[in-house]
Amino acid sequence: MTRKPGTQWALILGASSGFGAAAARELSKNGYNILGVHLDRQATMPAVHKLIKDIEATGHQAVFYNENAADEHKRRKIIEDFVERHHREGRAEVKVLMHSLAFGTLRPLVGRNESEMIKKAQLEMTIDVMANSLIYWTQDLVRRNLLGRGSRIFAMTSDGANLNLPFYGAVSAAKASLESYIRQLAIELGPRGITCNAILAGVTDTPALSKIPGARNMLYAAVAKNPFGRATTPEDVAHAILSLMQPGTEFINGNTIGVDGAESKVSYVGQKTPYQYADLSLLNESSWDPTDIS
Ligand SMILES: NC(=O)c1ccc[n+]([C@@H]2O[C@H](COP(=O)([O-])OP(=O)(O)OC[C@H]3O[C@@H](n4cnc5c(N)ncnc54)[C@H](O)[C@@H]3O)[C@@H](O)[C@H]2O)c1
Repeated sequence: MTRKPGTQWALILGASSGFGAAAARELSKNGYNILGVHLDRQATMPAVHKLIKDIEATGHQAVFYNENAADEHKRRKIIEDFVERHHREGRAEVKVLMHSLAFGTLRPLVGRNESEMIKKAQLEMTIDVMANSLIYWTQDLVRRNLLGRGSRIFAMTSDGANLNLPFYGAVSAAKASLESYIRQLAIELGPRGITCNAILAGVTDTPALSKIPGARNMLYAAVAKNPFGRATTPEDVAHAILSLMQPGTEFINGNTIGVDGAESKVSYVGQKTPYQYADLSLLNESSWDPTDIS
C-alpha cells in the first residue's frame, strides 16, 4: 500500500549511509518525505539509488543532493530549491533536521614530528563540517521559516566528546562543540517550539567507523562492554529518533541522549561478556582488599 505524500519533511545531512540512511528509511515509512544531503563517489552511488527507491516505495518523496553540506553556496542552493519546489504556499515543513556528517581528519594533534602534526586547515575543516555546519543549516532553515512548532533537531555525537583516542583529537573537539551547540540551540529555539537533542550512539559498524585506526578493536571492546552483548546499529538510532518525534515529547530538550545500550557507562577491563564481572564471587577470589590503601 502506498501512502499519500504528506507535507512533512526530514532534512538529513549525511543521508546516504550509516545512521542517516537508517533514519531516512524509518522516517519515510512513518510519514516523512526525505531531503537528503550526502557526499558520495561513484562506487557508493548504487547504495544511494537503492535507498532512494526504498524511500519512494513507501509513497514518500526522496530528494537527494550529492554535495558538500559544509559549502555555503551549496547549502543556500539546496534550501532555495526546496523552497521553490516543495514549500509552495508555505505548506512544506521541515519537522526533522538530523546532522549525521562523518568527515574529519584523524591524526594526532601534535604527533611525534612535524609531518604527523594536524594542519590548521584540517582542524578547522573537521570542526566546520562536524559541528559548525549544524548552526549554518539551522540559521538558514529558521530564516526561511522552515522550522516551526514541533520540529526537532538531532545531532549525532559519540562518547568521543568526553573521551579521547590517539587519532581522534579533532573529531573529539567537534563532538564536544556539537553537544554544546545543541544545548545552546535548545534554549534559543525552545520558545519557537523547536527541540534540539544530541544522540550519543554506541560504536557502530559503519564506513565512518572503519576509517578510525583500531576500529575492529573498538568494535570488539564495545560488544564486550555492552550490557546487551552486541554493538549499536543504525536502526537503534533510527527507532529512537522516531520515538522522539511522537507528540508529547517536546520537553525532552537540550540533552545528550545515549542510544548505546549503556555501553558508554561501562569501563573496559577486558570483559568477554557483560556478565563476566557481574559475578560477585569473583571479588572474593581476587586479592583486592578495599580497606588496604597502602
Ligand atoms: N559509527 C559510529 O560508531 C558512530 C558512533 C557515534 C556517533 N557517530 C557519528 O554519527 C555520524 C554519522 O556517522 P556514520 O557512522 O553514520 O557514518 P557513515 O560514513 O555511514 O555516513 C556518513 C554520511 O555523511 C555523509 N557526508 C560526509 N561528509 C559530508 C559532507 N561534507 N557533505 C555532505 N555529506 C557528507 C556521507 O555521504 C554519509 O552519508 C557522524 O557524525 C559520526 O561521528 C558514529
